[in-house]
Amino acid sequence: MAAPTDLWSDLASKSLRVPPMRELFDDDPLRLTKHTIEAAGLVLDASKNRIDDVVLESLFALARGAGVEVRRDAMFAGDKVNVTEQRAALHVALRAPRDAVFTVEGRNVAPEVHAVLDHMETFSEQLRSGAWSGHRGDRITDVVHIGIGGSDLGPRFVCEALRSYRDERPSVHFVANVDAHALDDVLANVAAPLDPASTLFIVASKTFTTAETMMNAHSARAWSIAGGVPEDQLHRHFVAVSTNTEAVRTFGIDPKNMFEFWDWVGGRYSLWSAIGLPIALACGMARFRELLAGAHAMDTHFMSAPLESNMPVRLALVGILNGNVLGARSACIAPYHQHLELLPAHLQQLEMESNGKSVTLAGLPVAHATVPVFWGQPGTNAQHAYFQCMHQGTEWAPIDFIAVIRPAHAHFEHQRALLANCFAQSEALMNGKTHDEVRAELVAAGASDAEADRLAPHKSFPGNRPSNTIVLSRLDPASLGALIALYEHKVLVQGTIWNIDSFDQWGVELGKVLAKTILDELESGTSGTHDASTRALIERARS
Ligand code: F6P
Repeated sequence: MAAPTDLWSDLASKSLRVPPMRELFDDDPLRLTKHTIEAAGLVLDASKNRIDDVVLESLFALARGAGVEVRRDAMFAGDKVNVTEQRAALHVALRAPRDAVFTVEGRNVAPEVHAVLDHMETFSEQLRSGAWSGHRGDRITDVVHIGIGGSDLGPRFVCEALRSYRDERPSVHFVANVDAHALDDVLANVAAPLDPASTLFIVASKTFTTAETMMNAHSARAWSIAGGVPEDQLHRHFVAVSTNTEAVRTFGIDPKNMFEFWDWVGGRYSLWSAIGLPIALACGMARFRELLAGAHAMDTHFMSAPLESNMPVRLALVGILNGNVLGARSACIAPYHQHLELLPAHLQQLEMESNGKSVTLAGLPVAHATVPVFWGQPGTNAQHAYFQCMHQGTEWAPIDFIAVIRPAHAHFEHQRALLANCFAQSEALMNGKTHDEVRAELVAAGASDAEADRLAPHKSFPGNRPSNTIVLSRLDPASLGALIALYEHKVLVQGTIWNIDSFDQWGVELGKVLAKTILDELESGTSGTHDASTRALIERARS
């Protein structure tokens, strides 16, 4: 169901009449309350957007007209909302309590989900306690998670974000890239090379056919054997996370050391499944369950709150306003917490692989721009890089500031400085500074009229640049789970409004197929049919 055209034109015409944000705050004492939503331990302050009551109403009408509630309910009901692959997208079932009922093709999947969680718990306790040991009886000191895309980025990001909750042992590492520098950097790190006798590999791949993962897994296997692990003892050093039991067996991993997940779990939504095993190994299963509970709290809110007070819906609608109506071509993520350094990367995959589409569910060209480009890095570093452009450039991007009130350290003067910077940025972006204000300041500071005239254009800020601020009281597993789930549901809402399939990813296939052809040519020395540029690049690689 697409949102009717008249709802889009109504939104566009109403948004033209919105006064500058500075005036909106002056005119409406209730503005902050109207644009703040609290849920699942998070606070979303969306008040610094170019939005008033009239535009907000128009956005809700757009969401209703596009059938956001219907599609949300269909996703939770286990319907095949991934229409091109004819699959459910039931990641919400992965984080629901044991007694929940989630149905896929008439079967309640909750018992299977919890059986795998219990398997993860047993295994992680064995490994962390030393009861699970290597072939010589050594304690496992290092775990290397091999996967790529959704089978890597989610758990990698969460392990980084929960650094303060990680135990010293086992040390968890991630290898994704087929570029073997990544593998070597972990296995043969000059400062601390790993010992095959005390290393466990998790081979994580939904399909167990992904070229990069399989190549890295085979190299890891060869490294283990070369390092003295007898072939018949590899089962103590390799476990798998997959949906493909046969391929896991063929690789040489005993299926009883395989953690199952299901085709109704999309790769970029899979960190809640056994793909999250490294999180449980690094932080303990209790923390992993807290992460799930935080996400479930956001699911409950998303499912039950009216559109008007629904946090993922609000975040999505403000994004639609900024991208589709006001013309932003990208969106910036600015986490003010060092441990959220990988949040922009995780959201790049979540948002851009999900909603980077150009045709509707029915296969027709989309009528509106879909997902913008996502990018970002932690504040305050970002301020000393590209924030110049954010404040004064011709290009602008809406920014999501993520602020965490309580740190996991005791350097409170640093924390105050961090938060002061975060709040100052959104205020500066919104308020800007007019030419007259700048000129008056310069003159008051002793500049001549000529000097003030010369400098004022350079020191003025247009302002009225939008941002959201999402506040967590601390970066703990539950609030992190809620934060990730917030963006997952935002993606669903926007995908529904754009009328696209947010759960397939056909765009990655063509390059995979061509890479296979070129790899065959590089290995065999033969030449296929290519354009002059590609042919020359292949020749260079051979030289
Ligand atoms: O990049 C495409 C993709 O299919 C992702 O969606 C997925 O997360 C990733 O590759 C890895 O796939 P797999 O888990 O099957 O190895």
